[in-house]
Amino acid sequence: MSVLVAYTSKTGFTKTYAEWIAADLGATLVTTDELTPELIAEHDVIVHGGGNRAGNLGGLSKFLKLWDELRGKQVVLWYTGASPENPEANARQWEKVLTPEQCDAAKLFYLRGGFDMGILRGKDKLMMSGMRSALKLKPNLSPSEQGMLKMFDNPIRDLDREAVNPLVEYVRAL
Ligand SMILES: Cc1cc2nc3c(=O)[nH]c(=O)nc-3n(C[C@H](O)[C@H](O)[C@H](O)COP(=O)(O)O)c2cc1C
Repeated sequence: MSVLVAYTSKTGFTKTYAEWIAADLGATLVTTDELTPELIAEHDVIVHGGGNRAGNLGGLSKFLKLWDELRGKQVVLWYTGASPENPEANARQWEKVLTPEQCDAAKLFYLRGGFDMGILRGKDKLMMSGMRSALKLKPNLSPSEQGMLKMFDNPIRDLDREAVNPLVEYVRAL
């Protein structure tokens, strides 16, 4: 079973998971931008991951443009975010970005990454600085808003080598 792992990562969290998954599976590793129909045709299992940016999952739209080429392949998707795993919220997120057919056809995972304001650049930095200022001014913060505010001042690095195991085991069992 030949496996191709593709990813889009802005600050390295998703990239680290992609490298661990590819190492465990002896897979070919590429970025989403490097994916081609020819590469897909050469592999049996295609794994794709991207970081969550306010509900947009890195590289996923580009990946899904290749959906016709992916028919007949085993497709495994994951996304990485700063939030702790929450199966209901993760399922809702998938439903927002995949069609029902894609949800059924792909095996879906969530791998928690982290958040580090200090390594953000460009638009991401601007957006998050704006959010931090807005939250600081808001009088009654919900628990999730309090968590976000904390995250701006204290980087979270929750990369977990073991977290890839369920995805890796799933692919090995195909
Ligand atoms: C602009 C922006 C929006 C984000 N939105 C979310 C979000 O909605 N939910 C979440 O869990 N994490 C969110 N994050 C955190 C990223 O998903 C997290 O840092 C992830 O590990 C990034 O992966 P990457 O560096 O590989 O792209 C956001 C980060 C940025 C910069």
